[in-house]
Amino acid sequence: MGASAVAAGTFDEAGLAEWGVRFARSLARPAVVGLSGELGAGKTTLVRAIAVGLGVRQSVTSPTFALVHRYDGAGCTVYHVDGYRLRRPGEAADLGFDDMMRERDAVVLVEWPERFGAELPPLTHHVVLSYVADAVLRRLEMA
Ligand SMILES: Nc1ncnc2c1ncn2[C@@H]1O[C@H](COP(=O)(O)OP(=O)(O)OP(=O)(O)O)[C@@H](O)[C@H]1O
Ligand SMILES: [Mg+2]
Repeated sequence: MGASAVAAGTFDEAGLAEWGVRFARSLARPAVVGLSGELGAGKTTLVRAIAVGLGVRQSVTSPTFALVHRYDGAGCTVYHVDGYRLRRPGEAADLGFDDMMRERDAVVLVEWPERFGAELPPLTHHVVLSYVADAVLRRLEMA
């Protein structure tokens, strides 16, 4: 697969979903993917698409109290972590990042990665979503 399959661009919701599926299929594991962007930028939308691309059949819902949800993909385990409710990085100390990283076939998808501070394992990929003038489009870049 060429690098252009997961290149930056400006996408509508369907386009972003297609990007997520392509990206998922390009991922070497274990992977830790940070997803940054303002509220409503499309992080969870992209997580759902990546999960689909990884063969997750369950519906992906945003973690709230647990901060992390685990899904079975096709030959991999998908973790969806959301730091939005984290008040300080130390609250993530018991989240289990170390255990996730010990799984060879883990794909860890982290919304609001900047909130985890030093608790966050090194990112293998960092996706940044932002608003553009057109309300149905989002800019996607790799940081
Ligand atoms: N091009 C687009 N890509 C993604 N979402 C879009 C797009 N255009 C409109 N939307 C809408 O924007 C919203 C994105 O919500 P989503 O929950 O994915 O954002 P989020 O970044 O996870 O927000 P939060 O910070 O609250 O977790 C959805 O309601 C979606 O329908
Ligand atoms: Mg979200």
